[in-house]
Amino acid sequence: MSPESLRSYRWFGAPVFRSLGHRARMAQQGYAREDYMGKPVIGLINTWSEINPCHTHFKERAEQIKRGILQAGGFPIELPAMSLGEPYVRPAAMLYRNLLAIETEELLRSHPIDGVVLMGGCDKTTPGLIMGAISMNIPAIYFPAGPSLRGDNKGKTLGSGTDLFASWYKYKAGEYNEKQLEEVENGISRSAGTCMTMGTAPTMMSMADAMGFCLPGASSIVAPDSRHAIMAERTGRRIVDMVWQDLKPSDFLSAASFDNATAPATALALGGSTNSVVHVIAMARRAGIPLTVERFDEIAQKVPHLANIRPAGKYLMEDFYYAGGLTAL
Ligand code: FES
Repeated sequence: MSPESLRSYRWFGAPVFRSLGHRARMAQQGYAREDYMGKPVIGLINTWSEINPCHTHFKERAEQIKRGILQAGGFPIELPAMSLGEPYVRPAAMLYRNLLAIETEELLRSHPIDGVVLMGGCDKTTPGLIMGAISMNIPAIYFPAGPSLRGDNKGKTLGSGTDLFASWYKYKAGEYNEKQLEEVENGISRSAGTCMTMGTAPTMMSMADAMGFCLPGASSIVAPDSRHAIMAERTGRRIVDMVWQDLKPSDFLSAASFDNATAPATALALGGSTNSVVHVIAMARRAGIPLTVERFDEIAQKVPHLANIRPAGKYLMEDFYYAGGLTAL
């Protein structure tokens, strides 16, 4: 890939009047030609918002990703997208997964972007972002939000979802008073990052990882860990290389990516969310691969459940990370 063959060069370098206009507007933002011309322009599709608690660290992480992009000789541009914060979106975030896929694809298509960092994690954001990127088929890397820390209530570990339900029923049964309920409320989700039981978010982050959409093992790093910030910067550097290599989703996604070698087998070995079946089939079909529910069943006959993570097991994602995470699995 040469600087003149970059997609963004069609906007900035073509000998036409519109390019002059584009460059003038870059100058309006304080960028001279040498800042971006002939460099990989990297879009950061950021699903941060004040109504997505799982992505509260994405403002800071975006800056770390940009630092990596700049170090590698690229030019970062942050593009906000709908954040689909699972705890708030009614009637259900699932209603909008495909809207995020469309938004991702069209943000990339309509702008001078050579490669993209997909910043997601909360349930439907991962498949939405990846589906859009597969359809657009430019170099793309996924940046997983990472799981939040274990929940805590006076030394007792709390897991997303399951312990919230349990506490509510204890409250309704008169076993917990208002103060005890509030203690659970304040301790169950105590850091940035996704739910930390093996629900849809950790399952989908892990599947994206297994498909080769992020740096190996990135999906298991807990969100507030300094190693998550290091991973952000490395992600920024990697996408610049991927643009020069012209490494697109169609170059690394195959039937095997979605088959026993990677995604469904990973979900099964993790004891992952049943929702993942819906999302992985949707992602596979975006890539033109006819994955079916029956194939999951065939693979399930061979793949044992290995990870001892709630709700099917005992531990949480933070423990999984310290035990070696997805690469160990
Ligand atoms: Fe965001 Fe569970 S609510 S991952």
